[in-house]
Amino acid sequence: MALWSGRFTEGADAFTQQFGASLPVDEKLYAQDVAGSVAHGQMLAAQGIISVEDAAAITEGLAAIKADIESGAVAFDVQQSEDIHMAIESELTARIGDAGARLHTGRSRNDQVVTDTRLYAKERVGDLMAANLALREALVEAAEKHFDVILPGYTHLQHAQPVLLPHHVLAYAWMLARDFERLAAARKAADASPLGAAALAGTTYPLDRFATTAALGFAHPIPNSLDAVSDRDFLLDLIYACSVSCLHLSRLCEELILWSTSEFGFITLADSYATGSSIMPQKKNPDFAELIRGKSGRVVGDLMALMMTLKSLPLAYNKDLQEDKEGAMDAADTLEDCYRCAAGMVATMTVHPEAMMAQAQKGYLAATDVADYLAKKGMPFRRAHEVVGHLVLLCDQRGCDLEDLTLEDFKAESDLFEADIAGCLNLEAIVAARTTYGGTAPDAVRVQLEEVKQGLAADRARL
Ligand code: ARG
Repeated sequence: MALWSGRFTEGADAFTQQFGASLPVDEKLYAQDVAGSVAHGQMLAAQGIISVEDAAAITEGLAAIKADIESGAVAFDVQQSEDIHMAIESELTARIGDAGARLHTGRSRNDQVVTDTRLYAKERVGDLMAANLALREALVEAAEKHFDVILPGYTHLQHAQPVLLPHHVLAYAWMLARDFERLAAARKAADASPLGAAALAGTTYPLDRFATTAALGFAHPIPNSLDAVSDRDFLLDLIYACSVSCLHLSRLCEELILWSTSEFGFITLADSYATGSSIMPQKKNPDFAELIRGKSGRVVGDLMALMMTLKSLPLAYNKDLQEDKEGAMDAADTLEDCYRCAAGMVATMTVHPEAMMAQAQKGYLAATDVADYLAKKGMPFRRAHEVVGHLVLLCDQRGCDLEDLTLEDFKAESDLFEADIAGCLNLEAIVAARTTYGGTAPDAVRVQLEEVKQGLAADRARL
């Protein structure tokens, strides 16, 4: 019989019992449920609502149940218990009798479940922040290892201007640093205690909500009991943070996939981050990068699902809210695995600098610098742009590169050109000239690398 069966005359139907149960999802919250119940029981005794002996029996009984769950000595069944809260409380009462039956005094599953979920969210976000740092470290190592490598920078996936490989790699480190901030914000959003809100309106018992808040390590109690039991914004924040980070990983992985094609040949993924084909013996597929790219869709789906669940939901607790946990857990688990996989992939890939350099030599990557050369000699930039456009056309017609043109060819378009134009055509010089803060010159990238490393150290201290 369910713990709430007093006003019912018929037993539960096996199908609806299973349909309504959340145990398969929320059994992951067993440790948080035990922690919440211990804090509640101790506070009840401190307030003189139950005896100190009963509170001690509750604390001991819960510790034993927790150990038994972890060793596998006790397992729960949806036909017996709808959720982890009922399962643990029934087990406790079966073991210690009346003391166990007193635990739920002044408490509802409505405040209980969201207390557990907030504790879980705080912990999981902490894990994600650590995994985020590990990936950023792998990116920094790759940036340092391949510091001098030049590749084409792209816009519209067409060759644009040459950039340093560390500059390109660090762009992802910055995205991930912002993701860390979003995760930290989600952890802060979860850091408030609903316990003591009871079903929706507070309770007639003299509960000390500040005591349970402190015992559970929350920053403060939630000031409105209706809001306490019905707010799931912290989960939206968590899944949103996961979604944005998954989108960033999908962009990184898309590039790794592209770069490992025969057409690019910029990198080779390690064997452990690739798979073969069951029919084509020659194949080496970037499955894991593709999987990370694909999983981003699932996580964004988790965000949409919870947003829709919350839409138009009246106050206070509604059973719809039971749908909150599965997607949030999935988003966190998925992102954690994706971080780990991406870090391994980046750390073990082989970079081919000559292939990157060879591509950087194609597509008139010096064109902007040649236009800047004229503009710096007084020609309005728009006119300089047109002059260089003509030179590019000339190269196109001759099937050559800007470097292959003679000084006479240049002079035919503008007599501002002198022999020193050669200095604008060299890739290293083009890169080295972009010295603006955040630019791709080695000195600027060195400054950036230092900032990324300082950010990493500061974020590590926030774990
Ligand atoms: N299993 C429920 C959930 O996850 C616990 C709260 C149930 N409360 C209720 N009044 N039915 O949301």
